[in-house]
Amino acid sequence: MWKRIIRHSIPHIKQLVLPGSQILEVGYGDGLLSCYLVQKLGWYLTGFDISPEAHETAIKNAKRFGLEDRAEFRFCSPEETWQHCGRYDAVFIKTVLYSSPNLAEYGRRLDWIISVLRPGGVLINFETGRANYLVNIYRRIRRREYTNLCLYTSEVEALYNARFDIVFRRYYGGWSQFAAPIKGVYNFMVLLEESFRPRGPDNCFAVSIIAKKR
Ligand SMILES: C[S@@+](CC[C@H](N)C(=O)[O-])C[C@H]1O[C@@H](n2cnc3c(N)ncnc32)[C@H](O)[C@@H]1O
Repeated sequence: MWKRIIRHSIPHIKQLVLPGSQILEVGYGDGLLSCYLVQKLGWYLTGFDISPEAHETAIKNAKRFGLEDRAEFRFCSPEETWQHCGRYDAVFIKTVLYSSPNLAEYGRRLDWIISVLRPGGVLINFETGRANYLVNIYRRIRRREYTNLCLYTSEVEALYNARFDIVFRRYYGGWSQFAAPIKGVYNFMVLLEESFRPRGPDNCFAVSIIAKKR
């Protein structure tokens, strides 16, 4: 599912964030997606992550792809991220904001994003949605600790709408993702879902948001 999300978003990102842009990333994880975007879109990226393992792996990945001069992965404390100051062309975040403990804190993190963007700067965010009750039962059984956090819903969506001009937003998800290993079946299920049961903020598994600072 994430591959499709990235593929659909790239044309929109390309139009708004030009090669040579300075990007801030929060929570780069293994840094693989960051490296892919830096390479494909000609970005200069500074990333923050609170995990020492993520930091070590991301640095290795930047070296592996020869991107040490264009992707700088920093290790920091959780508070340091939200206190960082700057003036970036874009902020890139994938599956980090849902870990906000409540909507007020989610809003504060969005305000911080606005504070580090230049006027007209772009937010590129891919988030996990609350989906439906069956998915949440599955998540609880699998002891996914994020089930009680701020997964994307229409309440979360309102926080974005109040702060940004939304350029592109698309919702994803459905049972098709469980068929992902079998490509033909997966594609067919996606087609059915998109035709007969399109997703929205309150039943999506994931969402992509590309938005501009006002
Ligand atoms: C679910 S992972 C996503 C990793 C990566 N973005 C991806 O999608 O593969 C969340 C990441 O955010 C990092 N993270 C959580 N809180 C953070 C904070 N306050 N500042 C920076 N990184 C943070 C975690 O260490 C973790 O690597």
